[in-house]
Amino acid sequence: MIDSSEMDWNSLGFGYIKTDLRYISFWKDGHWDGGSLTEDNKVHISEGSTAIHYGQTCFEGLKAYRTKDGEINLFRPDQNAERMQRSCRRLMMPTMPTEVFIDACKQVVKANEKYLPPYGTGGTLYLRPYMIGVGDNIGVKPAPEYLFSIFCVPVGPYFKGGLTPTNFLVSSYDRAAGNGTGAAKVGGNYGGSLLPGAEAHQRSFSDAIYLDPTTHTKIEEVGSANFFGITKDHRFITPASPSILPSITKYSLLYLAKERLGMEVSETDVYVDQLDQFAEAGACGTAAVISPIGGIQNGDDFHVFYSETEVGPWTKKLYDELVGIQYGDVEAPEGWIE
Ligand code: COI
Repeated sequence: MIDSSEMDWNSLGFGYIKTDLRYISFWKDGHWDGGSLTEDNKVHISEGSTAIHYGQTCFEGLKAYRTKDGEINLFRPDQNAERMQRSCRRLMMPTMPTEVFIDACKQVVKANEKYLPPYGTGGTLYLRPYMIGVGDNIGVKPAPEYLFSIFCVPVGPYFKGGLTPTNFLVSSYDRAAGNGTGAAKVGGNYGGSLLPGAEAHQRSFSDAIYLDPTTHTKIEEVGSANFFGITKDHRFITPASPSILPSITKYSLLYLAKERLGMEVSETDVYVDQLDQFAEAGACGTAAVISPIGGIQNGDDFHVFYSETEVGPWTKKLYDELVGIQYGDVEAPEGWIE
């Protein structure tokens, strides 16, 4: 266990740090037990667990923020609870009620408050809820039992640059099938992204960009984040597709761009051969926050957006609005902060 008084809050990356307590709850015979906090960061499960063999596993990611006046903000946890319920239904798992999910998040943050990075460091406490199918089983069928847990880790930027642009590589691998599990936050989507991600890293790109699995002409995802582009006339555009992960950050930005910055917004097809329409582009997600995209390599073509070294003005405005709300410096829309 790390001594939190010795943490260098300003140089946190996105890595595992064992914090003190995690929430754990078990489902058996049709219901969840009461749940509890435990110091044990190991899970002991049957060798026949469906999570091990058949990918019956889903997860979430959300963050807690320390505000200037010392309060703790959770950003839209109800949205994570609901997305997890959709992932669970897709994998035939039981769902965790929204109020139990949110209460468990709060318990974990409170129990690990010393790991919540101070205001002004840019750090956050990342919460990782997950559910796995467990119990003795061998057939390809839903598990007889389930484990739900939430642990937390103090984190800094997900992509190394933070708000400095980085470059991405269009991958020839598909992330998800057209009518598959792309819109659910399930382990298999991420297992399949390891090799394309590693190939991108080897070539010094931050991550892989995935095209639509049917025509390979449209941008879908940027690594494990969503894509957005800002046109020269300041329209905010993000891909529409049944096989991308519906990012809570992306939907928050669609709202903020329209309601707070007066931008025209749309979810539509984003053709990889029409990147010239964008003055700026970025990746967005809970972990990625808003990470500006400097350039995209597609085959032999390298397309630079605003700059490879500086964040563009509209991306910065969106960042300031979103992050301002998360840290409590900017008024939040009704119901966004718990
Ligand atoms: C998130 O943004 O929370 C994610 O799930 C991305 C990733 C770290 C898997």
